[in-house]
Amino acid sequence: MGSSPPSSSIVFAVLFLVCNAAVLCYGGKTSSFVRKVEKTIDMPLDSDVFKVPPGYNAPQQVHITQGDHVGKGVIVSWVTADESGSNTVIYWSESSKKKEAEGKTYTYKFYNYTSGYIHHCIIRNLEFNTKYYYVVGVGNTTRQFWFVTPPAVGPDVPYTFGLIGDLGQTYDSNRTLTHYENNPAKGQSVLFVGDLSYADNYPNHDNVRWDTWGRFVERSVAYQPWIWTTGNHEIDFAPDIGETKPFKPYTHRYHVPYRASQSTTPFWYSIKRASAYIIVLSSYSAYGKYTPQYQWLEEELPKVNRSETPWLVVLVHSPWYNSYEYHYMEGETMRVMYEPWFVKYKVDVVFAGHVHAYERSERISNIAYNIVNGQCVPVRDQTAPVYITIGDGGNIEGLATNMTNPQPEYSAYREASFGHAIFDIKNRTHAYYGWHRNQDGYAVEADTMWFYNRYWHPVDDSTNSDS
Ligand SMILES: [Fe+2]
Repeated sequence: MGSSPPSSSIVFAVLFLVCNAAVLCYGGKTSSFVRKVEKTIDMPLDSDVFKVPPGYNAPQQVHITQGDHVGKGVIVSWVTADESGSNTVIYWSESSKKKEAEGKTYTYKFYNYTSGYIHHCIIRNLEFNTKYYYVVGVGNTTRQFWFVTPPAVGPDVPYTFGLIGDLGQTYDSNRTLTHYENNPAKGQSVLFVGDLSYADNYPNHDNVRWDTWGRFVERSVAYQPWIWTTGNHEIDFAPDIGETKPFKPYTHRYHVPYRASQSTTPFWYSIKRASAYIIVLSSYSAYGKYTPQYQWLEEELPKVNRSETPWLVVLVHSPWYNSYEYHYMEGETMRVMYEPWFVKYKVDVVFAGHVHAYERSERISNIAYNIVNGQCVPVRDQTAPVYITIGDGGNIEGLATNMTNPQPEYSAYREASFGHAIFDIKNRTHAYYGWHRNQDGYAVEADTMWFYNRYWHPVDDSTNSDS
């Protein structure tokens, strides 16, 4: 008891803040949705979602991601706990014979933790748009899963992406994943905007929580690829306990096809998937002029052929436009470096995480400033991307509830609730986007937008035109 206020007064305080914000607003919408005030806590280690699959050395933490540049490859990864065991993935489609691919095993130590045997195996030259079954493990402890390859890359291929960020492993994380899985819009793969397990919130970055996270998300990521972005909770830089190699657990556990896009590290890379070109950037690697990431992106953007992949999507962890008080302006230096390119190359949408809430911007840019002209204000710009913060997966750090007021003119919609989103590409001109909060039914959309493609249909698609 003691000093904690009664819950009715907390609800009143939240209501007061929301109402007050609405009065001050001259931007878009600050949602008036009022959620129950409760703590966000990790699921205990004996939760059913963390259960180790039965059997000696049974493969666990099975996950897949795209394994090449166009979607004919898949990286299958899994962990065995007792011994290295088999590196083989057996796979087949309904119309093909069984084939085998051979992977490699990796292990790592982190302070007083020793990892299990982490297996990564690339399957190549799959048929597009085909359901494949695959088996990992040996003897009595094999496990079978399946995935569907994407359609061949092409300009009018419909494709549906899920968006999840900053997931963690709390009861709320579980709700977010369940809502994604049950969403009738049916994402075919997930664009994950960084911050996976939040193991680093535990003493000595207890890597057991990387394992529990792997088992928790297996129910989705073993069946459809999640496209990975690195967040700050992947850095695991802990010199006080002798761990000075950043990203060690993440890079051992999660492989991405970075070489296929001439990248030199897993932290930035690109893939094509159906009608989309996805560029993944790293907020936590050097991005200034002359750095490897800068050089790669400078060479990468002109390669995007909008006649082949009309939709140009960027994933990055730290948002460039963020009107919450949390991580305020952390993305600013990267914005200054790369925003002119995003406008020039007509990026359709940038998805970010990091801020544990939801926000969608109008199309805006802030690229006019030249150190003497004083023009440093975001302005409406129909050649610019929409910026969406989707760091609302539900991790242990809780919601970012404090917003800057008044709501900036560029901010179209913001709300501090956990949830996920769906980006549903219809053809080369139209994509339908919807954000879902966890408190609603599976089909309910709390924020929606029709995206008009910036290359093929650059018609004004503002949702807040009167401000
Ligand atoms: Fe983050």
